[in-house]
Amino acid sequence: MNDHVAIAPSILYFGTPVALLTTENADGSPNITPMSSAWALGEVVVLGLARSGHGARNLTSRPDLVINLPGPGQWAVVERLAPLTGADPVPEHKRDRFRHEPDKFAAAGLRPQPAELVRPPRIAECPLQLEARAAAVRERAGFLVIEADVLRVHCSPELVVPATQHVDPAKWSPLIYNFRHYFGLGEQLGHSFRSETPAIASRGHGQGPAPVPDQPCRLRADGDPRRTRSATARTRAAGGWSSPGRRALAARRTPAARGRARYGGGFRRRSGRARRRQAPAASVRRSAPPPPRPHRASAARATAAPRRCRTTRPSPPPGPRRRRT
Ligand SMILES: Cc1cc2nc3c(=O)[nH]c(=O)nc-3n(C[C@H](O)[C@H](O)[C@H](O)COP(=O)(O)O)c2cc1C
Repeated sequence: MNDHVAIAPSILYFGTPVALLTTENADGSPNITPMSSAWALGEVVVLGLARSGHGARNLTSRPDLVINLPGPGQWAVVERLAPLTGADPVPEHKRDRFRHEPDKFAAAGLRPQPAELVRPPRIAECPLQLEARAAAVRERAGFLVIEADVLRVHCSPELVVPATQHVDPAKWSPLIYNFRHYFGLGEQLGHSFRSETPAIASRGHGQGPAPVPDQPCRLRADGDPRRTRSATARTRAAGGWSSPGRRALAARRTPAARGRARYGGGFRRRSGRARRRQAPAASVRRSAPPPPRPHRASAARATAAPRRCRTTRPSPPPGPRRRRT
């Protein structure tokens, strides 16, 4: 049975992280463009920008940029930037709601921080900053689709898993633009089998207690998929059982207990079914974490000199549709 309805929403912003792009104006000053049509492909970030925007225009002639990622607590700052444009004059279709602002850092109360490999500054208040350069720009339906090579990643130290190159997913939370409303992340629900940080049980963004991996995951009667918790699990999740003393005690026990303790699990004996449910703990790294390694983005790519990027014009309209064989 199909219980969906066909709708025609005016926008398709289905929930992507907000980024504040810094680009360089013709006079060398910086512009900030709030945007959310961005996603990563390895070390390339693909960005979608309206062609009429000032940031888009900057990138077609000066390809350096910084992709600054604010956290959920910074939504009001983003919204302060929302009705502004670096374009002067303001494009016709924006005149009723937007105004020109030559100094968006001052307008939003943000501080510029020099970048290391590119010309526009980073935004000091953003916990994650990706220095990048537009390598290809394609135009499509009034938008530019920009492929930007990431050259260097800067992260607030408190978000880095100590002695690793990993961002702590329990501490970092993006600001999500969800059909033009701002959201943070909810509780962690689980992790991918490819996660390199499965043992991270700490919580940083204050949006509820840590998940309890050995608890059955049941849908609540109201449809909320969060885990139902026993009193013991709630105590543990609230931090009572994950104190340093408790962890040290657990570490002296069996390897299985060590795994459970690192994963934030408890000490009680489990049934075979419960143990199988706790499968992620098997992937807990038992050896010391590897020493930090340099970011893979090649240093050769990372020169500060501005370069023109390749701009692809839209291809001519296709001929008669070819049938698939
Ligand atoms: C949270 C948020 C997300 C946005 N996402 C995009 C986007 O992905 N692409 C885009 O072209 N404009 C996006 N906009 C609109 C631009 O920020 C807006 O057009 C702004 O005036 C551009 O500034 P500029 O002309 O100085 O570059 C977004 C705005 C906000 C507040």
